[in-house]
Amino acid sequence: MNTFTQEEAGFVIRPVEHRDQRMASERHAMEISKPDLYQQAIDRLVTLLGEARRVELNEPNAMTLATCDRNRRPTARTVSVKDVSTDGLVFYTNELSVKGVQMAEISQACAVFFWRRLMEQVIVEGEIKVLDEPTLETYWQTRTRESQLVAWASEQSKSLRDRHTLRRRVHEAKIAFREEKVPRPPYWLGYCLVPSRIEFWKAGWHRLYERVSYKRTETGWTKELLNP
Ligand SMILES: Cc1cc2nc3c(=O)[nH]c(=O)nc-3n(C[C@H](O)[C@H](O)[C@H](O)COP(=O)(O)O)c2cc1C
Repeated sequence: MNTFTQEEAGFVIRPVEHRDQRMASERHAMEISKPDLYQQAIDRLVTLLGEARRVELNEPNAMTLATCDRNRRPTARTVSVKDVSTDGLVFYTNELSVKGVQMAEISQACAVFFWRRLMEQVIVEGEIKVLDEPTLETYWQTRTRESQLVAWASEQSKSLRDRHTLRRRVHEAKIAFREEKVPRPPYWLGYCLVPSRIEFWKAGWHRLYERVSYKRTETGWTKELLNP
């Protein structure tokens, strides 16, 4: 009796290949060049972000970032991705915030994009690295003065007595820096999520969603389909 599998593109149902045959084709797929597979995944993410910018009403760069504390308790929130390349996914935040403290404790994180208009999801898992000083400074200079002042005024994630207190702190920062350039607060950092796995999920006909997973292994990047 034949055994069937739903693997491979288009969910074409086909007989399972003979084991040796499958191993040979897997080897061939691996030899196709692993760095190219990673580049392919990053290119696809960059293309999707471009499409999302065209069609999404709000916040196309928003991704849900999940981090974990040392007691393995997960937390998640939205952040904006500011750069995507083979170096990783860059975002900025306060190192004293809940996520900042957690990323210092456990340097693994997961980010999820979902674009409603595109009906596409991307999941990125990987290692968190802090950006170097020159990169931080360059990005800080692109921020508006208002957002720079808020970065000084807001003790992100700490409890706030009332909204008036925050407005007063912004006002105090305004006076403190007067006409000067607002310097970058030492706790305001940029992070790079360096991918070890990238999964693309695309809505499909009759819930036959397409899932493609790119994964870093000891010998390089692999690509496989996953069941929906
Ligand atoms: C669309 C959107 C984009 C956001 N972008 C950022 C961001 O880039 N950096 C950031 O620190 N917070 C951002 N926030 C706020 C965070 O979701 C969160 O409230 C804040 O960072 C504190 O999170 P934490 O207490 O879990 O550390 C954004 C919120 C939304 C809704």
